Amino acid sequence: MSDKNSSNAMWGGRFASGPDAIMESINASIDFDKRIAVQDIAGSIAHSAMLAKQNIITETDAEAIKEGLLIILSEIENGTFEYSKALEDIHMNIESRLKEIIGEPAGRLHTGRSRNDQVATDFKLWTRDQYDAIIEGLSELMKALINQADEGAEIVMPGFTHLQVAQPVTWGHHMMAYVEMFARDRSRFSDARARMNESPLGAAALAGTGFPIDRHDTAHALGFSAPSANSLDAVSDRDFALEFLSASSICATHLSRFAEELVIWSSAQFKFVTLSDKFSTGSSIMPQKKNPDAAELIRAKVGRITGSLVGLLMVMKGLPLAYSKDMQEDKEQVFDASDSLMLALAAMTGMVSDMKPNIASLESAASSGFSTATDLADWLVRDLGMPFREAHHITGALVAKAEEKGCDLPDLSLKEMQKVNEKINVDVFNFLGVQNSVASRQSYGGTAPKQVRMQIARWREVLS
Ligand code: ARG
Repeated sequence: MSDKNSSNAMWGGRFASGPDAIMESINASIDFDKRIAVQDIAGSIAHSAMLAKQNIITETDAEAIKEGLLIILSEIENGTFEYSKALEDIHMNIESRLKEIIGEPAGRLHTGRSRNDQVATDFKLWTRDQYDAIIEGLSELMKALINQADEGAEIVMPGFTHLQVAQPVTWGHHMMAYVEMFARDRSRFSDARARMNESPLGAAALAGTGFPIDRHDTAHALGFSAPSANSLDAVSDRDFALEFLSASSICATHLSRFAEELVIWSSAQFKFVTLSDKFSTGSSIMPQKKNPDAAELIRAKVGRITGSLVGLLMVMKGLPLAYSKDMQEDKEQVFDASDSLMLALAAMTGMVSDMKPNIASLESAASSGFSTATDLADWLVRDLGMPFREAHHITGALVAKAEEKGCDLPDLSLKEMQKVNEKINVDVFNFLGVQNSVASRQSYGGTAPKQVRMQIARWREVLS
């Protein structure tokens, strides 16, 4: 905690007294920005090495700085580093400790840079790692879905619109629909990752620096594709965080849709799927219960993730160039969203890998609700040459008849059908089964097992 009477050791030259305790509380970010310590050290090592190459500091000083920073890194890793709130943030905590360890050369590290470009660099490096981890997590989820699709390519189930039975589809087709969604997420993260990979380091406070620094050198050392081209933009840009949160929100939305289906499907009313015990919980009062808690929590995570997006958009809205302290509010949003999304992806991957489709329930549900009515109408058009509108009308009358009798379409007799339209012949029964229905849907991207297997092969190739 700060001593009220002493000003900040790092910037207190013009201050007669230290900050009020409340000022310290609102100002300090160390409690959360300690998460970017590793990136801060990497940035500082790259910066000081460049300063030495450019003869701005001596080689000996750069060596000492690097050694000191590596000691700090191990202190952080083994948990012995002492964080101080009075030193505000991770940048000053590390620099101050560096001074304790190596003395005078520590004071040369901050030549030609500012905390403004430093924090932008550190946070970008941290976020870049999350982009990579999420891209990886999405690939794993896609693989799990593809395995489900492959094993269940022939299983028929009801396809829904308005959550009303519409037409039969295959389990494989349904799984592969999510593969498409998560593939778009993956490509959104990849696109944004390529766009964000410019180094802010050396933009200094906002205007660049008079020291002969080499921004290309530090950009290269830190794995950036180039230094950012405008120093004002470099220190005030948080698009990389906004795009991360935006891609995360869309991805979390997809996860929540799938999670919702799993919640519905695992209910006693549907019984489409059995979730493994590993991803379910019991009730403390109702012994019979097995609850899909993982799915429900995944469904819920979209709330805080999208909340983070909206939160940071509101922080950034209306900020003038260049850096403003408002931007310190960027990190917690991204940390929380990233943690939440990583956890949701891992939980979904685990659930998908372990879940078992209930073939009997899926098949019996597939043929309920007159799901092959469209096949019947299509047959009337194709084989009997009827206009589709007339075929639609006749099929409607047959559905009404079956409903009245309390049976399914294939249970109507030919006689009963011919009462509705005398042209109907015995061939009709070839088109009322759900297996025929799905096998016939051979249009590109359709539900036929053959089409689904084609997509499975394509995605396996992409992911291998
Ligand atoms: N802790 C600050 C942040 O996260 C670091 C940058 C502070 N810069 C400054 N000029 N006060 O944004």
